[in-house]
Amino acid sequence: MKRHVIACIPGDGIGKEVLPAAMAVLKAAGEKCSFSIDVRQFDWSCETYAQTGKMMPDDGLDRLRDHDAIFLGAVGFPGVPDHISLWGLLLPIRREFDQYVNLRPVRLLPGISSPLRDKAPGSIDFWVVRENSEGEYSQIGGRTGLGDDEIVVQQAIFTRRGTDRILHYAFDFARRLDRKHVTSATKSNGLFHSMPFWDERFAAVAAENPDITTDQYHIDILAAQFVMSPERFDVVVGSNLFGDILSDLGPGITGTIAVAPSANLNPERRYPSMFEPVHGSAPDIAGQGIANPIGQIWSGAMMLEHLGEEEAAALVMQAVEAVLVDPELAKTPDLGGKSTTAVFADAVRTKLLEL
Ligand code: NAD
Ligand code: IPM
Ligand code: MN
Repeated sequence: MKRHVIACIPGDGIGKEVLPAAMAVLKAAGEKCSFSIDVRQFDWSCETYAQTGKMMPDDGLDRLRDHDAIFLGAVGFPGVPDHISLWGLLLPIRREFDQYVNLRPVRLLPGISSPLRDKAPGSIDFWVVRENSEGEYSQIGGRTGLGDDEIVVQQAIFTRRGTDRILHYAFDFARRLDRKHVTSATKSNGLFHSMPFWDERFAAVAAENPDITTDQYHIDILAAQFVMSPERFDVVVGSNLFGDILSDLGPGITGTIAVAPSANLNPERRYPSMFEPVHGSAPDIAGQGIANPIGQIWSGAMMLEHLGEEEAAALVMQAVEAVLVDPELAKTPDLGGKSTTAVFADAVRTKLLEL
């Protein structure tokens, strides 16, 4: 029987609730499709920081290296400044393991209403391909000056290699999907250096992929287009920050960010890839057992697909959708229901075993 060794980092807040709930579903998929999941637990979080002054041990990244994948809940909690917690755990993992693609599907699931008028399940269905290793996310810069004269500089880094590889990934991905259109998120009217370079590389990579049609929008009007006509998008490629924002806006128009998954991929498979929901630790509802586990479960399905367990991945998503449309089964409060995390995830597990 095939065995997948997974590093699990529940992290903070609802991460600790949705990750175990999702893992039970993935294990059931393993029972059904004849593979096992060997979980290695890493309890690194803001509590670790409070105890040790670090989000993870000094050899933390090395301890993650030899896993088939990393399954993460959420990082960040009040009490530790976000730039300390995130740059102490989540962002170093993405960088150390060269997970330069952040793949984030946006799909209106059956049983969930869009806040937009008259949108049928599946009518909103596109992918955000987010650059995940450089761009606006950087620790380069600094503060100088005092009082009214204080100046803060925050550098953005766009390398030719880093830009080209995410653009190539987006075009290859569109071809694999057989939906041959790529939209680029830019802002070359306001950002003087980085975005004109991004546009130049987008045009060059597009020219190498003549079978794929393209368009590009400045990020401001693109945000409006997501709301006004989301059906038009197939694959949307953006820099680290633009991709981050679009991958919350996308799920927002599908009713809730709580269902949105993501795959932090090292496409060359030299290092483990990491799978985590798009949402955060939700401090406002943490500890109540009412978080929606769909984002974590769907991230788990993406992980199974990455591990070559396509059938199991499809079954997991079929089970989620079946529970969402079953009038007998309650949803979590964010979707207007009264279910708990555990009850909802167990309904998915039961449905899966019945499929
Ligand atoms: P958030 O996603 O944690 O919460 C935003 C809102 O959505 C809250 O009202 C929350 O209750 C709700 N929500 C989120 N996930 C939900 C779920 N599964 N079920 C039901 N409701 C859900 O965003 P935030 O408040 O901006 O961030 C909180 C903390 O999480 C911060 O420290 C932030 O930096 C961190 N964060 C981490 C990640 C990550 O680890 N990948 C992602 C985003 C935010
Ligand atoms: C995400 C999150 C992270 C990001 C934060 C917590 C650093 O918002 O995964 O989308 O911006 O990448
Ligand atoms: Mn985000």
